Amino acid sequence: MNTADLFGNVTSPVRWDEPLCDGAVVLRGFALADETALLHALDAVVMQTPFRHLITPGGFRMSVGMTNAGSLGWVSDRRGYRYDPVDPLSGKPWPGLPEAFLQLATAAAAHAGFAGFVPDACLINRYEAGTRLSLHQDRDEHDLGQPIVSVSLGMPAVFLFGGRLRKDAQVRVPLAHGDVVVWGGPARLRYHGVMPLKPGYHEALGGVRINLTFRKAG
Ligand code: SIN
Ligand code: FE2
Repeated sequence: MNTADLFGNVTSPVRWDEPLCDGAVVLRGFALADETALLHALDAVVMQTPFRHLITPGGFRMSVGMTNAGSLGWVSDRRGYRYDPVDPLSGKPWPGLPEAFLQLATAAAAHAGFAGFVPDACLINRYEAGTRLSLHQDRDEHDLGQPIVSVSLGMPAVFLFGGRLRKDAQVRVPLAHGDVVVWGGPARLRYHGVMPLKPGYHEALGGVRINLTFRKAG
């Protein structure tokens, strides 16, 4: 029996929820139904505002390539981390949030219990083989009552989800193409990061993993 027989219809992907802790959940496959629209929108954004490697306040070049869509974009340089309405590379506003991005983020947040989430910022992270994101908290946003919605596309990765303190133990959460993690409320300030990406190939994006992180920043 092939997959089509098992599920009846290969175009309606299987989705399920995997709670991580109070306020955090992995929505398995939540973005799969919108895959085509998301990948097109991603292409359009990246044409306008290419990935770049930001410099940390301490002077290190981040290995994750980054760009943004939305009225605010997350940037880092020698002056610090901040949200900026202007792309420092072009001197122009970031591309607007594509409709497909906005709808997915709002739907995922609502599904996870955060109704009314309207992001104004989408940080787009690009991981290549060997690229990692060290443990951090998302705390540059104005209203920490708003959740984070994080969408995985392309190559799988291992997400590290820790506690309120840097030293707290972390769970290792494998994330695949189409998975969405939502964390907010009591989980909003939990430390998290991404283990080094393994080399490989995914039909959607080749050897790359893209993560879309939606936030209400302003
Ligand atoms: C982030 O913490 O900003 C990104 C997490 C991820 O790439 O899954
Ligand atoms: Fe983060």
